[in-house]
Amino acid sequence: MTQSSLPRRSSSGIHAAIIMDGNGRWAQHRGLPRPQGHRAGVEAVRRVIAAAPELGVGALTLDCFSSDNWQRPPEEVASLFGIFENFLFAEPTLWIERGVRVTVFGRRDRLPATLLETIEYAENATSGGHRLQVRLGIDYSGRQTILRAARRLAPNAEPSEADFGRLLAEASTSQDVIPEVDLLIRTGGEQRFSDFMLWECAYAELFFTPRLWPDFAADDLESAIKDFRSRNRRFGAVAEAAAV
Ligand code: IPE
Ligand code: IPE
Ligand code: MG
Repeated sequence: MTQSSLPRRSSSGIHAAIIMDGNGRWAQHRGLPRPQGHRAGVEAVRRVIAAAPELGVGALTLDCFSSDNWQRPPEEVASLFGIFENFLFAEPTLWIERGVRVTVFGRRDRLPATLLETIEYAENATSGGHRLQVRLGIDYSGRQTILRAARRLAPNAEPSEADFGRLLAEASTSQDVIPEVDLLIRTGGEQRFSDFMLWECAYAELFFTPRLWPDFAADDLESAIKDFRSRNRRFGAVAEAAAV
C-alpha cells in the first residue's frame, strides 16, 4: 500500500491556510468603497503573520486573489494589485528580522509587471527566513493547477503522489511543493473552498468563522489553533485507543 507523499504531520509546525473572506462586506457595512475593506484586510494579514510562529504555525498559506476574482470590476482588481504591491514592497525588512520567508504561487503571466517585480524582490529578500513560511496565492486556481499538472503527465505515466505534488508545484509556479494543509480557516461566514488548495486540503481540518477578515485578530487565530489541537485526526485509520 502506498502512503501519501505529502507529509501528514509537518515537522516544522502546523500548515494553516486561510481563505480571507469578507473584506467587501466589512467596507459596505461602514459605507466605504470595497477597496477600503481590502486595505483594512492587510492589517489582519500583518496580525496573523506576527502571531503565527508563537502558536506553532510553521507555514501560513493565504488566499489573496483567486483566478475567479478576475471577474470583479477592473477598478477593484487594480486596487487589489496595488495593495499587494505596496505590502510586498514594505514588509520584507520586518520579515527578515522575524525570520519570515515569503513565496507567491499562482499564475504569473497575467500579473502587472510592477507587481511581478515586487513579488520577485520580496521572495529574494526573504529567502533566508526559517521561522515561518508565508505563501501567498495570487491568481491561483486549485482546479486549473491540477488540470495543468495532469496535462504535463507523459502518456501512460503512473506518477506517485510525490511526483504529482512536484508537477502541481510547477503548475502553480510555486518554488517548492506545497505541503498538505493541516488547518483551513475561512472567515466571512461562507463554508466553501472556492477553488482553493483542493489537492492539499484532502485531510485538512476545517474551521469556519463569521468574523469578517479585517476584524480577524491574533486571538481568533489562537482559537482556531486551539480548536485544531482538540481534533482527532484519523486519516482513515482507527483512533489508536480504539485499535485492537
Ligand atoms: C476577500 O474579500 C478578498 C478577496 C477576494 C480579494 P471579498 O472581497 O470577497 O469580501 P466579500 O466576500 O465581498 O465581503
Ligand atoms: C475567495 O473568496 C477568494 C479570496 C478570499 C481571495 P471569494 O469571495 O472570491 O469567494 P466566493 O465568490 O464567495 O466563492
Ligand atoms: Mg468574498
